[in-house]
Amino acid sequence: MTSKSKGRFFDHGKLERNISLLGIASLIVVAIGGIVEIAPLFWIDNTIEKVEGVRPYTPLELAGRNIYIREGCYNCHSQMIRPFRDETERYGHYSLAAESMYDHPFQWGSKRTGPDLARVGGRYSDEWHVQHLKDPRAVVPESIMPTYPFLAERELKVADMRADLTALTRVGVPYSKDDVAKGNDDLKAQADPNADAGDLLKRYPKAQQRDFDGNPNKLTEMDALVAYLQMLGTLVDVDAAKPQETAR
Ligand code: HEC
Repeated sequence: MTSKSKGRFFDHGKLERNISLLGIASLIVVAIGGIVEIAPLFWIDNTIEKVEGVRPYTPLELAGRNIYIREGCYNCHSQMIRPFRDETERYGHYSLAAESMYDHPFQWGSKRTGPDLARVGGRYSDEWHVQHLKDPRAVVPESIMPTYPFLAERELKVADMRADLTALTRVGVPYSKDDVAKGNDDLKAQADPNADAGDLLKRYPKAQQRDFDGNPNKLTEMDALVAYLQMLGTLVDVDAAKPQETAR
């Protein structure tokens, strides 16, 4: 600190000896950094890269998802595979942002007492899920998961799926007018293998239509929850999506 900064563009000595001045100057510098990072977010339409295959939930899946939230499954299960080797080897391809773009609220979770469920769809049979939810110890002896036998008894009562879908359209989920109008019919048709599902599959590609709970006489909460679990992570062909993902 011997040389005087005479003639220089900025007198650093002064700045570094004056705490107030240094504070204000730091604030300005940090603010510029912040604006550069945050401001663009207000002008771009979307921060999520589109990925083929992602679609809104069918009414039955959505009803199952609502039960998942109601029962607090997220307290023990995450739905977010991180891009680390130990996770991808156990759970499959890491989660893509687009895969949860229609989730309101998202179910990433913050605790894994049980395994991640982001790609559990198709990993087990419907019967396995029904057994497991009724009594986890029946299929996984060392399990500490609670039992949910009542789901198989309780009739799936939804006030009006159309209201649910309408609410979701308001936050940007692209349900068409047709989807909303057919909300209640779609719900029933998807869980009934004999029902004419109409254009359900066209509007919701890869939707699975069958009796999920093994009790064809009754539409239960189990039907909805299993329908939801069985579609998790099945919409996107992750390996085909890979090149798009890295392309800029
Ligand atoms: C108290 C924590 C806890 C809660 C709450 C909980 N689970 Fe689990 N879950 C576990 C544990 C631990 C396992 C691993 C042992 C097993 O398979 O039962 C598990 C396993 C699972 C599996 C098998 C996953 C796999 O890849 O093998 C599914 C599916 C599942 N849970 C669904 C649910 C659903 C749906 C709910 C809510 C209705 C729920 N769980 C609530 C702890 C919990």
